[in-house]
Amino acid sequence: MSATPSAPVSAPCTASPRSACDPATTLDERFRAAIRAVTGSEADPQIRASANAKFGDFQVNAAMALAKERGGNPRALAEEILKRADLAGIASACEVAGPGFINVTLETEFLTARLEELSRSQSFGIPPALDRHAVVIDLCGVNVAKQMHVGHLRATIIGDSLARVFERLGRKVWRENHLGDWGLPIAMTLARLIRERVNFATLTLDDLNTNYRAAQVETSTADLDAATRFHCGPHRLAEFEIQYEPARGAMENAKKTLVRLQSGDAEIVRDWERLIEVTMEQVYDAARILHVKVGPENNRGESFFRDRLAGVIEAFAKSGFSKSDQGAIVVPFADRERPLLIQKSDGGFLYATTDLAALRFRTAELDGSLVVYVVDARQRDHFRDVFDAARLVGWNTTKDGAESTLVHLGFGAVLGSDKKPLKTRSGENFTLKDLLDEACERGTAEVVRRAEDPNAPTHGLSPKALAEIGAAVGIAAVKYADLSGDLTKDYVFDLDRMIAFEGDTGPYLQYAHARIASILGKSNENDAVLASAPLLLRDPAERALALHLLRYAPMVLDVGRTLETNRVGAYLAQLATLFNGFYQACPVLKADDAAARLSRLRLCALTRAVLADGLSLYGIVAPNRM
Ligand code: ARG
Repeated sequence: MSATPSAPVSAPCTASPRSACDPATTLDERFRAAIRAVTGSEADPQIRASANAKFGDFQVNAAMALAKERGGNPRALAEEILKRADLAGIASACEVAGPGFINVTLETEFLTARLEELSRSQSFGIPPALDRHAVVIDLCGVNVAKQMHVGHLRATIIGDSLARVFERLGRKVWRENHLGDWGLPIAMTLARLIRERVNFATLTLDDLNTNYRAAQVETSTADLDAATRFHCGPHRLAEFEIQYEPARGAMENAKKTLVRLQSGDAEIVRDWERLIEVTMEQVYDAARILHVKVGPENNRGESFFRDRLAGVIEAFAKSGFSKSDQGAIVVPFADRERPLLIQKSDGGFLYATTDLAALRFRTAELDGSLVVYVVDARQRDHFRDVFDAARLVGWNTTKDGAESTLVHLGFGAVLGSDKKPLKTRSGENFTLKDLLDEACERGTAEVVRRAEDPNAPTHGLSPKALAEIGAAVGIAAVKYADLSGDLTKDYVFDLDRMIAFEGDTGPYLQYAHARIASILGKSNENDAVLASAPLLLRDPAERALALHLLRYAPMVLDVGRTLETNRVGAYLAQLATLFNGFYQACPVLKADDAAARLSRLRLCALTRAVLADGLSLYGIVAPNRM
């Protein structure tokens, strides 16, 4: 079954632009033409960066697959392709190796020219986006009247980083915070706060939390329901009935409050808005500390969609994709037993109904050709159902009918060192505030300790300045650990390891950045002089660094394609390593001649700029002194 969307569906925008700075772009072009000349047909030349400089800078891998397809000897085919490839001014040495690889070593002038282009590019060689539709990122997703927990921290950090990547790629990005700000649990809390005459003006998040939980307990008739279900006898049942009368009353009251809220009763709406305000203060505080761009302008919670829910039911009914099941409305799927419930028999709507309304809003009104839901992996089935239901009615299309890609980026849990969900030292559940405070404290302790060394660039800085760097270090540690692994996996929250200045950590990269900034500072070289100095790539270490710098744009393009934020971290770690190799092999401030000194300073400046830009994709600040 497939729906007929109102607008014609154009092909999804799969064409992705390539970086002109990337030597692989030129090689791709030249070898594609050569393959066409040899085989008469179009094929991907499969250009890859060489893993080992011994085999040149790039490898062309297509010959093996092509020979298999057409029959024939892959090495001979590789020779043939190589003969036809126009590589004048591009490659200095090429050879066929192994079963049919073509190893390519770039002409130094060609490499230098690309690097020159990179250093003059405003965007590090990232080409303008081809897809003019928006990217929608569902992030954060906190629930009103509840403490933000580490899961929401991940949803916020990962979502913000992806948003930054797409902004870097020149896309229009919507950060959508799908707050849990509507429905019975909130009415329950609200009803209780009013009954207990809590002062809304001085309400705190702790009050909200306590009352949220208390409201759940006081309305709970779970034991009674169980007793009824398990036929535990009239006598016991009568006991339960009496015991649970207050719960019934509280629930009645909550339902009345919900009706008042739904009908727009001014007094209740004002109290409800206050609940949201108190909840969101913590989020904005955390956002500021974390350097994530999430503010009031991103709030489009469940309540926003309340008037669109009936329309969802109607749309499914009209298209014939829903059916009534004992008074409830469900969407059945051909390939699974369980249908998606979109309206309860009492007329109530569900989490999924709201998500369907939100999804339609994101594709049709925000014009998203890519909608990424950064939400806990445990909601996988929910999103699978919602996406499939949306596809049935053709809601996965933008304003102009282009197909929208819907992705649930389900991330894993944050675990303590005991591999169990994270707890504080006193055994409490870790709140976000605890975690951020601890990270900043530990970061500051580390920075203060290092500043004691009289040779440290931070020696003698004021406690306030040190605390500022310390906070940046602590937050970098948390964010890097969160973003640099496989997002779908659980990860162990180990501040000791995360905060170290050595190893695969955020602070290590910040430190590399600060060291380069210090070299540049010491050089006292004027920017204009630097900019006009020729780049000289003489040493293999300079060459390796240059090649990697040129890989920045393709790496960012890859993250846009794969949503794998860990590629940024891996790239930057490699950049820091190559820079260290270069710095050991090639004296910069004490270079033999003035030309080498200027060229190397330019390499330093480029590396620093790329490091800072890469860290900014993680929303990590890069201090100049550490
Ligand atoms: N409030 C939800 C929760 O805490 C997360 C919202 C995720 N976004 C969405 N569109 N469903 O589980």
